[in-house]
Amino acid sequence: MHPKDFVLETYRQRYGKEPTYLAIAPGRVNLLGEHVDYNDGFVLPAAIDRATYVAFSGAEPGSDHSTILAADFGEVTSFTESSIETKIDANGAPLCEWARYPAGVAWALKGAGLAIQPMQAVFASDIPRGAGLSSSSSVEMAFAVAWSALGGWSIPPMELALLAQRAENKYVGVNCGIMDQFASACGVADRLLLLDCRSLEWQTLPIPENIAIVIADTSVRRKLTSSEYNARRQACEEAVTILKKDLPGIRALRDVSVADFNRFCHKLPKMVEKRARHVVEEVERSLRAIQLLQQGEIQAFGQIMNECHVSLRDLYEVSIPELNAMVEIAQSLPGCLGARLTGAGFGGCTVNLVEKPKVQAFAAELAARFSIKTNLKPEIYICRVSDGAQVIPTSLH
Ligand code: GLA
Repeated sequence: MHPKDFVLETYRQRYGKEPTYLAIAPGRVNLLGEHVDYNDGFVLPAAIDRATYVAFSGAEPGSDHSTILAADFGEVTSFTESSIETKIDANGAPLCEWARYPAGVAWALKGAGLAIQPMQAVFASDIPRGAGLSSSSSVEMAFAVAWSALGGWSIPPMELALLAQRAENKYVGVNCGIMDQFASACGVADRLLLLDCRSLEWQTLPIPENIAIVIADTSVRRKLTSSEYNARRQACEEAVTILKKDLPGIRALRDVSVADFNRFCHKLPKMVEKRARHVVEEVERSLRAIQLLQQGEIQAFGQIMNECHVSLRDLYEVSIPELNAMVEIAQSLPGCLGARLTGAGFGGCTVNLVEKPKVQAFAAELAARFSIKTNLKPEIYICRVSDGAQVIPTSLH
């Protein structure tokens, strides 16, 4: 069953009535600019046609409990505005892992002075978890727009995204950048999103004609990501602190040119140097790539995606053998312009730019060869680029 029907049906069964609203928030795929959002760089994501769905209504009159059923797990949690302050549920037990996402969003919204109405909700998602497609940001954004609809207030999508990011940073404890929440909040159907992660200015760019975006899921799920992810971020911060002595004007690695980096990189510990080199070169690559995209030079753009994978594999060290295998096979197939891992890494998916007429054969061949090589069952799909998070009154269904 599609997750939209699943949440509506589960809601009806549990509450014996129709929900008032349905919230939808997409996952994302990132074409270029990986691990640069928290270094003030540029990213090029797109919202995808996989999403988190929340069927919801206000709680019964007089109740201050938000009751949320995670239909994918068959588990329910209930919390109040005051219980979430200490990460406990309404019965005083610690919030389970998935409950920290909606609770964290409520906490961040409340902290910004926005009204949180208690809700009855059922949610589910068809974004695989731990696969690099931002399943957690989509849960955050789905609840953010849900609370906005229930509270009758509205703020610009980017501000909502920043509050969702705050929930993930300060409540869940992953020190992520803004890319995922931004893409889920601000996605535009059939368009790529170009975000300057420092100024937060963004624009959309067309998807090149005759090009399909293909997501290839290795089926390997990441583990221990938050500690590895936070460690990468720390290495970048350390690099800035050290480089600042010679380059006092810099605020983030985005401000360091490749030439300056080469002059001073010997002052960095070896590991920090590798991490920072990825970022400095990736910022430079993404600027070049954006120009190429605007000039319609798709072959060259794809080439830069390939270079990005090498850098993520060898310098940032966030790839795994299965992702490398998926990328190598893809790059050897007809019609593939570029392939690389997408998202944080350590498992999950690759993103591939493929000439449309060759895309079916590409997908079939990639799946077959990857299975033979790894004994795993991958999932390959052609992605439709979608709109960002929204709430639909269910009476309009
Ligand atoms: C995760 C984070 C993002 C970004 C990517 C890597 O998806 O949530 O903020 O840092 O990793 O580019």
